[in-house]
Amino acid sequence: MKHTEMDTNKTVGKPISRLEGKLKVTGTAKYAAEYDVDNLLYGYVVNSTITKGKILSIDVSKAMALPGVTEVLSHKNRTKLAWFDLQYTDMDAPPGTVFKPFYDENILYNGQPIALVVAENFEMARYAATQITFEYSEEPFQTCLDNNLHSSRVAKKGFATALKPPPPPPTGDFEKAYQNATIKVETEYRHGTEHHNPIELFATTTVYEGDGKLTIYDKTQGTINNQLYVANIFGLKYKNVRVLAPFVGGGFGSGLRPQYQLFLCVMAALHLKRNVRVVLDRKQMFSFSHRPPTVQNLRFATDTDGKLTAMNHLSKSETSSFEDYFEPIASWSHRLYPASNTLFEQELVPLDVYTPMDMRAPGGSTALHAIECTMDELAYKLDMDPLELRLINYTEMDPSAEKPYTSKALKACYLEAAEKFGWEKRTPKPRSMERGNKLVGYGMATGIWDAFQFPSRVEAMITADGKMILNNAVTDIGTGTFTVMTQIAADELGLPMDDVDFRYGDSKKPFSMFQGGSAMTSSTGVAIVVAAKELRKKLLKKAKEMTDSPFKKVEDNEVTFKNGTIALNQNPNVTVSFKEIIAFNKGKTIKTTNMGKPHLLKLKKYSMATHSASFVEVEVDKDLGTVTVTRAVTAVAAGKIINPKTAKSQIYGSMVWGISKALHEETIMDEKLGKYMNTNLGEYHIPVHADIQQLDVIFAEENDEVINELGVKGVGEIGLVGMPAAISNAIYHATGKRIYKLPIHFDELL
Ligand code: MOS
Repeated sequence: MKHTEMDTNKTVGKPISRLEGKLKVTGTAKYAAEYDVDNLLYGYVVNSTITKGKILSIDVSKAMALPGVTEVLSHKNRTKLAWFDLQYTDMDAPPGTVFKPFYDENILYNGQPIALVVAENFEMARYAATQITFEYSEEPFQTCLDNNLHSSRVAKKGFATALKPPPPPPTGDFEKAYQNATIKVETEYRHGTEHHNPIELFATTTVYEGDGKLTIYDKTQGTINNQLYVANIFGLKYKNVRVLAPFVGGGFGSGLRPQYQLFLCVMAALHLKRNVRVVLDRKQMFSFSHRPPTVQNLRFATDTDGKLTAMNHLSKSETSSFEDYFEPIASWSHRLYPASNTLFEQELVPLDVYTPMDMRAPGGSTALHAIECTMDELAYKLDMDPLELRLINYTEMDPSAEKPYTSKALKACYLEAAEKFGWEKRTPKPRSMERGNKLVGYGMATGIWDAFQFPSRVEAMITADGKMILNNAVTDIGTGTFTVMTQIAADELGLPMDDVDFRYGDSKKPFSMFQGGSAMTSSTGVAIVVAAKELRKKLLKKAKEMTDSPFKKVEDNEVTFKNGTIALNQNPNVTVSFKEIIAFNKGKTIKTTNMGKPHLLKLKKYSMATHSASFVEVEVDKDLGTVTVTRAVTAVAAGKIINPKTAKSQIYGSMVWGISKALHEETIMDEKLGKYMNTNLGEYHIPVHADIQQLDVIFAEENDEVINELGVKGVGEIGLVGMPAAISNAIYHATGKRIYKLPIHFDELL
């Protein structure tokens, strides 16, 4: 049944405030480290201060002598674990050998966890950690990407690379076409390391239930991912491990993989047969989970009309010595622009660091900056408006796959955002616009991101009170998933949102992939649609069985579900309420459990993506070089928008992240020590209120009848991808200076 046949009370498309908002702002919502648990022990992690080598000895005598210290765990006395035979990793693990905390004496990277102090209270555990002495033997290490570009190689194949395919194969003859071209640009872009830094610190509270049973409150983007990880590694039965994460204080990708505090917390709980909590501090948040630094080389050429004839994009990015972390970088330009001669290559440089991880729009946000700045340079070479260059190279197809997109409203994004922004007021010459002591610049860029859908299973039921309960393991990392799922379910059954209870964030519930890739609305949302369809059938079937039922002979499409009833379309006064149906069912709940999954056969003929266009105004202080993003407009095409309010918040957040990436965020490595230097939020800069001025979001209309049952593609990352390039391009327009790296520092503009 289509939404259009439903009543006017439908909630999809309405800007509904997030349902859990009040719980969060009043401190009622509990996070992983906040659960009240009796007889709790506190673990504090000790991290390696060397970058590579071996631990020769550990002296814990002073720490153990302190009052309240229960145990110090390290590779010396850790429990024997099942995973050393199984080689289990996790659902988001790249190919390679997963990092195993406390495995042996080897140090693989600076900040590696090497001991866990467990004590009766947090303060004592933290103090005791300072009283442990380690003797190391140090070995030479490599942590500098630039110094090791020569050792780059292609990524090993594995599960994660299947989700993130390598760049498309070459077409035509790039070298020849580039050589013969008259309009061409060659660029080299550098991006540094960034750390996710969600406000909620990584934390785990493990409740030791006895009999090998654990209840784990964890900060994660995937309850089932972490349940499987713990069960496999510690040799426990799946049903005995329950991971809960109903509230998550931001993830940005850092929670896609189980982090070491989970491992250490569970290990201590099993070892001591006690309830244990491990919380990392802000500095420790820099000891895993980062976006890899990258060097990108691009060569683009056009004919004299501005049509791209040749594109080459080579990317080299960091990975660890033990896993091949791969994020698509070189694959994006050909998904946007056609060109007959292309060459895309992507390689990894293994260094003595922790494995990089997906961080908001992994690959895309790095790649699009380089691509869209190179396009801007081409526009100047051609003496052409940058927007015009995009429109000249516009295609409805995905040239890299030679397939049509299921939908692509990027042109509308360009035009609507340009109009709202006032792009026509731009004077083309660099340094041609001023406002008092400020140079003013306008810049624009394109964004593209994947439209993923993962399989997801939803249990849906109508209970004796006529209300609906849904169960799914998905988390809500703050994106509005809870609200959006409630809306979808309410509309599908024609119930008010108050009568829908969407229960989530629990590994005991039916399957959901980790929450990432802007994929949850399509994944769990579609599963709800599929489950609801079945549920409506079951309810109608039961209604037909009722004595003197007026529904006896009606077909599925002759009724409407609304206000907790089934109503006859021909005579809407003839209704039966869900309550009556369940009463007739002797009070027994009517339920279904269904899987939503992508229609792969149909979708094989298509490419799927969301698109965006960002337009940015910057002011650059003539004397100080400081940059302010004074205005930004981002138009997004992402299929149907279920909730314009939460979706807009997603895009606002992404745009702020774009400003952050362009002007603020960077983790700086001391190459002599192999150690990150600014591991705190004082020195790891993120924007504050004063950095954020006028932001506008437009959702371009995009009716996608192909992609999935809901016509949704997902939002989040798509708001980020175009912003950094739009800002860089605006800075060039303001100053005439092209800075081939991020973030851009004010001293580089003087
Ligand atoms: Mo996002 S990097 O897919 O959590």
